[in-house]
Amino acid sequence: TTPAPTPQYRPAYHFSPAAHWMNDPNGMVYYQGTYHLFFQYYPEAMVWGPMHWGHATSPDMVTWKEQPIALYPDSLGYIFSGSAVVDANNTSGFGKNGQVPLVAIFTHHNPKEEKKGTNKHQNQSLAYSLDAGKTWTKYDKNPVLKNPGIQDFRDPKVIWYEAGKKWVMTLATKDRITFYSSPNLKDWSKESEFGQKLGAHGGVWECPDLFPLTLNGKTHWVLIVNLNPGGPNGGSGTQYFVGNFDGKTFTPASTDTKWADYGPDDYAGVTWSNTGNRRLFLGWMSNWEYANQVPTSPWRNATTAPRELALQQVGSQMYLTSQPVKELAKIAQPGTTLKNITVPKQYDLSAKVKNAGDKFQLKLSAAQLATYSLVLSNSKGEELVIGYDKKANQYYIDRTKAGQSGFSSKFAGRHTAPRLATTPQTNLTLLFDASSVELFADQGLTVMSELFFPTQILDKMTLRSEGNFAVRELSYANLAAEVK
Ligand code: FRU
Repeated sequence: TTPAPTPQYRPAYHFSPAAHWMNDPNGMVYYQGTYHLFFQYYPEAMVWGPMHWGHATSPDMVTWKEQPIALYPDSLGYIFSGSAVVDANNTSGFGKNGQVPLVAIFTHHNPKEEKKGTNKHQNQSLAYSLDAGKTWTKYDKNPVLKNPGIQDFRDPKVIWYEAGKKWVMTLATKDRITFYSSPNLKDWSKESEFGQKLGAHGGVWECPDLFPLTLNGKTHWVLIVNLNPGGPNGGSGTQYFVGNFDGKTFTPASTDTKWADYGPDDYAGVTWSNTGNRRLFLGWMSNWEYANQVPTSPWRNATTAPRELALQQVGSQMYLTSQPVKELAKIAQPGTTLKNITVPKQYDLSAKVKNAGDKFQLKLSAAQLATYSLVLSNSKGEELVIGYDKKANQYYIDRTKAGQSGFSSKFAGRHTAPRLATTPQTNLTLLFDASSVELFADQGLTVMSELFFPTQILDKMTLRSEGNFAVRELSYANLAAEVK
């Protein structure tokens, strides 16, 4: 039986399926004005099961419309994670009479084969759409890339590598990444392996991504590698490397382990294809430690907010920055802006903000760093604490007392993230959406995503400091996207 519905936890501007289970975002592709989001979906229960690709579309990544299921499991197995591309030159030949096919490249996971223990149960397959992503046909010669006998062999992310005029597939292969290339998406040759001895290895490598970004006119390549478990605050996490890719081999510029998001609830994130110079990222806002137990109904799990990625140099290191996409401004309601306030030990922010809700953005900037926190609380004594600790030079989110947590021993806790910026001035953007908060600090250099489940709305907002925190500007705006 389905637990009582929890509309109070339903996000407004993050995608969640109307009902049932979702995990990873898949096949994100922008085409003819529409952002397509496919996702790991089990339409028969609120827990993980035989995987389908659910489908949702949006003109702006903030208002979503759920569409019919795009891919169903078949005799080759469940439809695991993967990507989608616009095959503009019809290299695959799926297009007929000048049609441009959209091609999805995904992992077929065969549970029957898995039982045999031959490590050949995950293979890469294709499906194509000739009606701009609406309906999909599986290729009749699947799979196109067979497993040589590697237990974890999945989550293909394919890009068009213009310099070599070929497709490049980045594949998660257990404890490393394997790169393949193809002229036509059907025939794949192995190019190289990366990472067996680099980065974090607390779990299996999954859902990778590879893309170029420019910094000061120079092109660098970013390799995203999701990892479960072994994340920075336990469980699922997203690490990345910055370096060079020559069509064959990825060479990191630094061997430091770096995290795209330090919070517990951003996983399996990858970027959209076909978005020109913008690099747009979306993750699954959950963690395998408790994703099957979170107290929502009749759905489980949602995506993160869409983020625009860039590179930033800090000292000798190049970091990936993530900031909420500018499209979010479209759903921001007229709000409250406070200028030049000095925060005493306690500052009742809720008294200053008109019509505060639980779906909003809060921005803060300061000329000097100081220890401070924002506390959201309710009359039941529940509180969510978000702050910066100057001594530790860390941002943190503490959801220990923020409401329900008994569904998993892994949920309650205080999670921290280093401040990577070295500037004296600081800025913070917080996005709240009913049961989640995303923190973007210092122009997106430090990011944290976190779920919380209060039993009553956290309607009181208090700023705390050691008594001398000078805030240059603080702005509050409700974010209202239609809940579908
Ligand atoms: C990541 C993942 C992928 C896999 C999918 C299965 O969360 O484990 O590696 O393809 O989920 O649903």
